Amino acid sequence: MGNQKKIIMAKNNKFYPASGGVNLSRPPMSIGERGLSSPFSLKGRGWSRKHLLGLAELSAEEINTILDTAGSFKEVSTRNIKKVPALRGKVVVNMFVEPSTRTRTSFSLAAKRLSADVVDFSSSGSSLVKGESLKDTARNIEAMGVDIIVIRHSSPGAPHLLSKILKASVVNAGDGPHEHPTQGLLDIFTIREKKKKIKGLKIAVVGDILHSRVARSNIWGLTKLGAQVIAVGPATLVPDEFKQLGVTISYNIDEIIPEVDVINILRIQLERQNTNLFPSIREYARLFGINSERLKKAKPDVLIMHPGPINRGVEITPEVADGKHSVILEQVTNGLAVRMAVLYLVSEIK
Ligand code: CP
Repeated sequence: MGNQKKIIMAKNNKFYPASGGVNLSRPPMSIGERGLSSPFSLKGRGWSRKHLLGLAELSAEEINTILDTAGSFKEVSTRNIKKVPALRGKVVVNMFVEPSTRTRTSFSLAAKRLSADVVDFSSSGSSLVKGESLKDTARNIEAMGVDIIVIRHSSPGAPHLLSKILKASVVNAGDGPHEHPTQGLLDIFTIREKKKKIKGLKIAVVGDILHSRVARSNIWGLTKLGAQVIAVGPATLVPDEFKQLGVTISYNIDEIIPEVDVINILRIQLERQNTNLFPSIREYARLFGINSERLKKAKPDVLIMHPGPINRGVEITPEVADGKHSVILEQVTNGLAVRMAVLYLVSEIK
């Protein structure tokens, strides 16, 4: 933690007058100034990846590097001028081929706070609807001099494919049910900020584990950092195979509520309800929905989390979503710092 903090601070000392404001009259930076090339190279300090594709492939050290870097960037968002020049001169394209509110806005703001040029691309209105392939679309976008492509796509592996054919860095903003690494990271960042540790915590992830990229990224990240993860939901949504990822499984939320430190509640994907994975929405809410009555049995300092978007009255009641245990909006705030850290770190690796 100390190292990363020092790195960012060293950079900030270079760019910021004592007032903490941005020196706008400063000429463009050299690569050495903007980046952390020698003597502040990130290599050997826990980061050497050009892409962020998932948490499955990251080590605990790499995850901690991102979290520590995000901790330093969070401070930037408290300043009057919420901007640092770390990505000045770089171009970031947010390529969202699936709907998003939080992730797209957060990546866009993160890139702007790092002083990058940012383009928000969405599939509707693009030549994808005329039949252009994802590969061709991405290659054409890259040909305009793009440094980082952030991609959300309904197909698992879409970011991995782009990382193989492009020279730009690729960041996964959610690929089908596979992974949503920055959501996993911001969830872990929020838990660590609140609980001051991850190791040894008991964390319930509740709901549609089967279809959830958020669940997978949480499970990968949290178990690597030493938390005990309990996957909770109806048997149709929590297959036994998840035990292979190092989690325990429960089909009874009332049994596990008293013992957990965190309850991370997943969205019930209403669009999948024609597949009859549970009898009805009302039945799901009765058996697994987190409401005030259920919460009475929880630890007094339990954290209630949800990645959003929320189905109020289904997986979580409004009084719990907006209640004293909820850190749902803090997750969103932290997402910005985490995405600044990710964009910054991948941009430093050629
Ligand atoms: N949590 C999340 O990914 O939300 P969005 O779909 O709005 O980006």
